[in-house]
Amino acid sequence: ARVAVLISGSGSNLQALLEACADEAFPAEIVKVVSNRPGVYGLERAAAAGVRTEVIDHKAYEGRAPFEAALRGSLEEAAPDVICLAGFMRVLAADFVRAFEGRMLNIHPSLLPAFRGLHTHRQALEAGVKIAGCTVHVVTPALDDGPIVGQAAVPVLPGDTEDSLAARILKAEHRLYPAALRAFVEKRAAEAEGASLFVV
Ligand code: GRF
Repeated sequence: ARVAVLISGSGSNLQALLEACADEAFPAEIVKVVSNRPGVYGLERAAAAGVRTEVIDHKAYEGRAPFEAALRGSLEEAAPDVICLAGFMRVLAADFVRAFEGRMLNIHPSLLPAFRGLHTHRQALEAGVKIAGCTVHVVTPALDDGPIVGQAAVPVLPGDTEDSLAARILKAEHRLYPAALRAFVEKRAAEAEGASLFVV
């Protein structure tokens, strides 16, 4: 499957996906990386892996609609089968999501449906949960709300700070995202094959 990845920063999740895709037995290849911010390290990670990159800087557009139109054009140019949001920090409007409905994934640093939105580690610590983690889900117009593809759990340890918990969860994200993408791609391939069995 052809995968395009949207990033906004460091791209450590992108790195995990790049490394997974480097194995030719992995059923996906990353065909383009698009960032909404220039000069972020994730762009260097993509370039180092020989993957095409593009910056669609939201600050260069007058408002959300023209930005998302440009972003959509950049993605569609790569003809991806799947879009992965990986540390992408923009909320996408419903019609953008609908253009890729059912084939856009996001990784969120909490065990959804708990702790949607931002500052998830602070939310977890304030709630006093003993288990935290991360979720890969299909993106729908509602924020952090679509069908769950996979999750990884980590313990919350005594004395944990936002930073120590975030670091533990980030490591789990790097294990989860490649596994979730593989499962998602394989499920779509099986469904596509299944559909062909019933053409009469
Ligand atoms: C991290 O906070 C991660 O939990 C979330 O996005 C942020 C940046 O991730 N998924 P990355 O290093 O840019 O992939």
